[in-house]
Amino acid sequence: MNVMELFRLDSKVAVVTGGSGLYGAHISTALAQAGATVVIASRGVAECESLAAKLRDEGADAAALALDLGDEAGIQSFVAQTLERYGRIDILINNAVSRVGLADLEQTEAAGWNAAEQVNGLGTMLLTKAVVPAMRKRMEGNIINISSIQGILGPHFPIYGSTGRTSGIEYTYNKWGLVGMTKWLANYYGPYNIRVNSISPGGYNPTGGPEDADDEFMQKYKERTPLGRMADDDDIKGAVVYLASRASSYITGHNLVMDGGWSSW
Ligand SMILES: NC(=O)c1ccc[n+]([C@@H]2O[C@H](COP(=O)([O-])OP(=O)(O)OC[C@H]3O[C@@H](n4cnc5c(N)ncnc54)[C@H](OP(=O)(O)O)[C@@H]3O)[C@@H](O)[C@H]2O)c1
Repeated sequence: MNVMELFRLDSKVAVVTGGSGLYGAHISTALAQAGATVVIASRGVAECESLAAKLRDEGADAAALALDLGDEAGIQSFVAQTLERYGRIDILINNAVSRVGLADLEQTEAAGWNAAEQVNGLGTMLLTKAVVPAMRKRMEGNIINISSIQGILGPHFPIYGSTGRTSGIEYTYNKWGLVGMTKWLANYYGPYNIRVNSISPGGYNPTGGPEDADDEFMQKYKERTPLGRMADDDDIKGAVVYLASRASSYITGHNLVMDGGWSSW
């Protein structure tokens, strides 16, 4: 087969959780441009529909559907509706993240921790659990978990400088957990021809986002990164399409680090 055809996703049905968010919108766009029918899912269905409409205008096939990863019955109903409408889910991208804004360990309380974990840990597991039976039945499926460089390392606190920004302990805990969940799922479902991989992206600065020269965090981040920049709008696209497509057909249980070299020092 021609190598470029290996990257095509024509006739595949993909679900992207948090599919209209910062990275999510580019993941949804990339899958749609590669030929997949994309179901863009989160609580804010209006934003998902706005992106779906834009993709449809560009000739792609996309739809929006409400999904709250904190609601188990809602997760089951989301999967049932998707299967009823499309007949199958070929690709599941677990991208959504709940950012509860925990500051540091000594201010972290059980309620905040549990609220984050209900979505990021439990919700991701429950959605995956609901999607997998139909994949197993068809002996075909592809799951990609979006982790982070914080799923392979801890936060480098000096880069936050005097900005007051920081990164909560629950985020690092969850992102490492997602890489572990990836390997568990890959090993268990390999015999059913379901591939499961994860991506550890580095920090993303959207085009037109807070720039650049005056921002202490951005400056320190760039200095700390061998490629000298944060991720841009396109960087996630190739990684996702590669793992979602036949181009990576013998790869499972892998964590693809997409970080401009951040973790290679
Ligand atoms: N941005 C970065 O620099 C960066 C770096 C490394 C890794 N990542 C990873 O990339 C992924 C996307 O991050 P992002 O920065 O693009 O996130 P984001 O813009 O904050 O978007 C988060 C998405 O998750 C959805 N979401 C939150 N709670 C939900 C719930 N209960 N049910 C369903 N959906 C929910 C949100 O939609 P609703 O509010 O509409 O529900 C939103 O679309 C995350 O896994 C993150 O850890 C991001």
